[in-house]
Amino acid sequence: MSTGSGKGKAILFGEHFVVYGFPALAAGVASETTAIITRVRSFGWKLVDNRPAMPGYKEKKYEEQKTSIDNILKHLNIDTTKTGFQIDLGGDLVCASGIGASAASCVAIARALSEEYSLGLDDNQINEAAYIGEMGYHGTPSGLDNTVSTFGGLTWFVRDLNGGPPKFEKLKLGKSADLVIASTGLTASTKVVVGDVRKKKDANPEWFDSISKEYDQLVNDARKALVELNFNKVGALMNKNHELLQQLTVSSKELDNLVEIARENGAIGAKMTGTGRGGNMIALAPDHTTMKKIAEALEKGRAAGVWTTSFGL
Ligand code: MEV
Repeated sequence: MSTGSGKGKAILFGEHFVVYGFPALAAGVASETTAIITRVRSFGWKLVDNRPAMPGYKEKKYEEQKTSIDNILKHLNIDTTKTGFQIDLGGDLVCASGIGASAASCVAIARALSEEYSLGLDDNQINEAAYIGEMGYHGTPSGLDNTVSTFGGLTWFVRDLNGGPPKFEKLKLGKSADLVIASTGLTASTKVVVGDVRKKKDANPEWFDSISKEYDQLVNDARKALVELNFNKVGALMNKNHELLQQLTVSSKELDNLVEIARENGAIGAKMTGTGRGGNMIALAPDHTTMKKIAEALEKGRAAGVWTTSFGL
C-alpha cells in the first residue's frame, strides 16, 4: 500500500490568459488531496472517491477522471492486466471548480503510484505525469494547476507555447497575505469554457489581443506590487483582472455577486478564480479580522462553501 498527496491552488492572476503564454500568478493552498494505492488480485483499477466535494462535482467529472487515470498509467507504463489496484482518494481539499481539485488528485495519484511501483519519480517527473493526467480533464491544460499542486507556494508561471517545459519560479514575500475563497457551488467544465474562449479568440483576434495586452501589463504590475508588499495595489489589480475575465465572458452572475459581497465587506480586491462560469472566487483581505468578516458575509450571502487561507511566506 502506498500514499501520495497534492495541494489545492488559487489563481491570483491569469486564468485563461495563461493558456496563451501570458504569465500567471497562483498560490498553493494548505488543503490537499490524498491517494492510497492498494494492490488487488483482480486486473484493472477501481476508484473509491471519498474526497469532500461540492454537490454534483464528482459525478460531473467522473468520465474525465477515468481518462485522466488511464493517461497517467499509460505515461508511467504501469500494466494492470495481471494485477490491478484500488485507488482511495481522500484529504481535506473540498473539490470545487477553481480550487485545482483535478490537478491535486493527479499529483496525489502519480506520487502514490511512484511509491507503489518503486518508480523513484522526482517532483519534476511527478509534475509531468500529473500534466498528462490533467489532459484527461481538458485537452490543452496550461500546466499551471499541476505545477502549483506539485510544488506549492506562490508561483509565477509561464507556459511554453512550443511544447517545451514551462518556466516557473516561486516567489517568497516578506509577509503573508490573507485570502478568502468562496464557491458558487456550480461545477464548470474546463474543457467547455477553455474551448469557448478559444472560439471567441479565433473569431475576433483583435478583440482578444487588446484584452491580453492589458492583462500582460497588469500581471507584471501585480508581481511588482506583491514583491513590494503593496497589497492595496495587488487588490486593485485583482479587481481589474476580474473585469477582463468578465470581458472574456467567463465570469457569471453568481461569481459577480460573491465578488461584490467580498468588496462591500472590506476586501481590498476580489475576482473569480480558475475556469469560471461557476466555481470559485477569491478575496484579498487587509488583515485577519476583516478576513473573518468577509468570510461570514459570504456565508450569509449564500456561498456554497467558504475557506480562508494565506500565501506568500
Ligand atoms: C483552470 O484552473 C485554469 C485555466 O486557465 C485552464 C488552464 O490553465 O489550463 C482556465
